[in-house]
Amino acid sequence: MNKKNLYIYAILGTSRPKSYTGYALDLVVDELLSDRFQNIKSVEILRPNHVSLDFPDIISGDSDAEKIKKNIIKADGLIFATPEYHGSIAAMAKLIIENLGFPSVLKDKPIALLGCAAGRSGAVKALEQLSVILTHVGALPIHHPTSIGSVRSAFDIHGNCIDRDIEGKIRNLATNLVMQLTK
Ligand SMILES: Cc1cc2nc3c(=O)[nH]c(=O)nc-3n(C[C@H](O)[C@H](O)[C@H](O)COP(=O)(O)O)c2cc1C
Repeated sequence: MNKKNLYIYAILGTSRPKSYTGYALDLVVDELLSDRFQNIKSVEILRPNHVSLDFPDIISGDSDAEKIKKNIIKADGLIFATPEYHGSIAAMAKLIIENLGFPSVLKDKPIALLGCAAGRSGAVKALEQLSVILTHVGALPIHHPTSIGSVRSAFDIHGNCIDRDIEGKIRNLATNLVMQLTK
């Protein structure tokens, strides 16, 4: 693997406006683009409230799936962030995965997982399910996914993280991903 000029593609698995998972993902991207990492060429975020995706075999003609697939194909590594909704991944997260082809362009891609939940026990169920799905399509979920509980008290209304420990935990995902991609 080329250890320099890494291109990271980050997927936000919800279209909910002012998503806390989105705030957490922004922190990871901020960390990746910091001076700590000299080997990152660029990071791009898929924010699904700005894209059009179809359900399987329904062709609307304005799907962004091909554009997303191209970005994933050229990515050295990915981040997949999902909130926990009803003890599971968000429907949008699953819809994104269902738009990535069969076989999936996620095959053989290292992916760092981030999950956020309002509940204190975190996004453990969502992350377990996301890991199973990604493994099923041949992706390589990185060990030790980052689960953030009580996420709504960790950020202020502007999306700034106000809990140093949680911020450190979220930013550490960037280190885990880069270590995995450069080892
Ligand atoms: C449809 C829906 C279902 C949810 N189900 C759960 C849940 O099962 N457990 C939980 O801790 N929080 C649940 N939440 C709260 C989210 O975890 C909370 O909104 C949190 O901020 C992360 O989601 P966000 O990225 O959309 O902000 C749910 C929220 C929605 C919108």
